Amino acid sequence: MKALVLSGGKGTRLRPLTFTCAKQLIPVANKPILGYVLDQVAATGIKKVGVITAPETGQYVEDYVSDGSKWALSVDYISQEPLGLAHAVKTAQPFLAQDSFVMCLGDNVTGQGLNAFVQKFQKERLDALIILKEVDNPSSFGIAQLDNEGNIVRLVEKPKTPMGNLAIIGTYLFSNKVHKAIARIKPSWRGELEITDAVQEMINMGFTVKAEILNSWWLDTGKKDDILSANAKILDEYIERDIKGNVADSTIDGRVKVEASAKVVNSTVRGPCIIGKNALIENSFIGPYTSIGDNSKILNSNLEYCVTLENVIVTDVERLEDSLIGKNAKVTKNQKNRTIKLHIGDYSEVEV
Ligand code: G1P
Repeated sequence: MKALVLSGGKGTRLRPLTFTCAKQLIPVANKPILGYVLDQVAATGIKKVGVITAPETGQYVEDYVSDGSKWALSVDYISQEPLGLAHAVKTAQPFLAQDSFVMCLGDNVTGQGLNAFVQKFQKERLDALIILKEVDNPSSFGIAQLDNEGNIVRLVEKPKTPMGNLAIIGTYLFSNKVHKAIARIKPSWRGELEITDAVQEMINMGFTVKAEILNSWWLDTGKKDDILSANAKILDEYIERDIKGNVADSTIDGRVKVEASAKVVNSTVRGPCIIGKNALIENSFIGPYTSIGDNSKILNSNLEYCVTLENVIVTDVERLEDSLIGKNAKVTKNQKNRTIKLHIGDYSEVEV
């Protein structure tokens, strides 16, 4: 069995961060989301992974994943224009050959590994296994309708009038029969070859398609608020107290990770939190569910439920909450007058 990890797309909902980074590389708890996906792939014992990239951001993905040795995986890169998930499978066909595979979206994380799904798929000799989760906004996803026995009746991509609330999450398992179905489908109204249509076609063709409902959390980190919730979830689940850096005249409460060569001076940090390598926290309060990126400086400020990427400077800000701050950004309170001065990139969002 192989794995196909989708790490392309334009990431328009996460601009401006995605002008200089692939959306799958935005860190939660200071580690790119794609890293968690590859951890879960590696844990299944699968060794060969195809990573789909976009022409604009492919290089960033290759720089991070490299030859895959960090995960003991062998990696093939496959460049694709963003024309749909089924189009990605079609583009990857030479890599996939006749093997079955698990397909994961590189910006989706779940609290459950892939092992149980791989076992079910293999044991029951399925042609497709899709994973579902209840959502509040079914019009934003591919939706599955099940009968009383849990068999799939129908699948619709982003239905205007949803026939249920079970969304197809970004984890799919396929036999090589999926290629036959993809060859028969046409692009949708949004001009994409939809994987939802391919799975529906597999059902129409009489292949064995099953669904499983996820019993852990699932986050699709496509928007700012999703990144902040994913950050909170990951900090909650994975962060242990681990103080490697320097702490002076400060209070560190609970599960806080202070990375090597970071400094916390005259401050309070309340977990779960992570302070990145070589970061400086001075005369500040860092509240729960905050990740401070490597080389960032937080001076005379109070932050809570925030994610700062690398090399950020925050100075003299009384209270910063629910914020996602990109690499090398500076946020400063002007002490002399009460005007607000902005120098922000295209597609930024500021709430004052
Ligand atoms: C894609 C799929 C959709 C699925 C979603 C999960 O949507 O087309 O069926 O529910 O991923 O994240 P997209 O991200 O392309 O809008």
